[in-house]
Amino acid sequence: MPYVVEPEMLRQLAKEKGYLIMAHNYQIPELQRIADFVGDSLQLARQAMETNAERILFLGVDFMAETVKALNPEKKVVVPVLCATCPMANSLTEEEIAKAKEKYDAPFVVYVNSTARTKFLADYLCTSANAVDVVRNVPSDTVLFGPDKNLASYVAEKTGKRVIPIPGELGYCHVHNFVTTAQVRKLLEKYPDAEVMVHPEVPEQVRKIAHFVGSTAQMEKYPMASSAKTFIVVTEVGMAEKLRALYPDRTFLTIDSMVCYNMKKNNLRNTYRALLSDGPEVVLDERLGEKIRKLVEDMLKLTA
Ligand code: 13P
Ligand code: SF4
Repeated sequence: MPYVVEPEMLRQLAKEKGYLIMAHNYQIPELQRIADFVGDSLQLARQAMETNAERILFLGVDFMAETVKALNPEKKVVVPVLCATCPMANSLTEEEIAKAKEKYDAPFVVYVNSTARTKFLADYLCTSANAVDVVRNVPSDTVLFGPDKNLASYVAEKTGKRVIPIPGELGYCHVHNFVTTAQVRKLLEKYPDAEVMVHPEVPEQVRKIAHFVGSTAQMEKYPMASSAKTFIVVTEVGMAEKLRALYPDRTFLTIDSMVCYNMKKNNLRNTYRALLSDGPEVVLDERLGEKIRKLVEDMLKLTA
């Protein structure tokens, strides 16, 4: 194992060993650059359904890698480390779901940022890109929605439906939930012509001062539709790296506290080691995988 790993060495090894490299938009720029495909959760799920590659190296967090594995049960899915997880996904327990189901007679729409066991108990699946479409198309005026309370609030606002967040107050992403309007306004004072883009995982009061709300892939398209030269990117800082590479003539400002340390657990060295040793491999119970496959297929039918 070489001590210094250059991005080109990763590309070469992936090619030799027949790996397709998929990465989420929050990965460090060096990893985004060596990936064959970089996207948001919805794009990554679609890509995972379409690939012919026998081996996939996934760069993101565990629930995303599990979705890729569920859609490719016969293939080898490898990650740099197994401990890159999403704390929000782990915040919803089976007991809380059971309690909510007992109290309300309503379908349970699960956000893709959830564990495989949580998904097993869900009726519908969504990502941040299609949560509004999915809930709009669910044949019920009331839905249980979890684990992200902020996305639940956005979906309720957009659909006019009763969206009951589970687990409730404690369901949030620690990277997005603690951003404040004061942090955004401070940047706006300095850059009054800037436009504010936010991920729907931010709290309602921050969402209210945004020019645009969307998933990371939707944020990627937004500058094309805007004449602004400067954007305040209110999501994990990795997204701004991607935007800067795509639009070199525009300025993208970040909220520096918004770092997902789990996404940043993947680096050039552990990615190289994963390719070299064909592991660690993502393992998923077949019954859970089957359920996730079904949820993804149904989700795509409900997506506009
Ligand atoms: P996207 O699907 O919008 O990329 O979001 C994933 C995520 O983890 C947001 O924190
Ligand atoms: Fe989870 Fe938040 Fe990290 Fe996204 S940014 S993976 S929701 S902890």
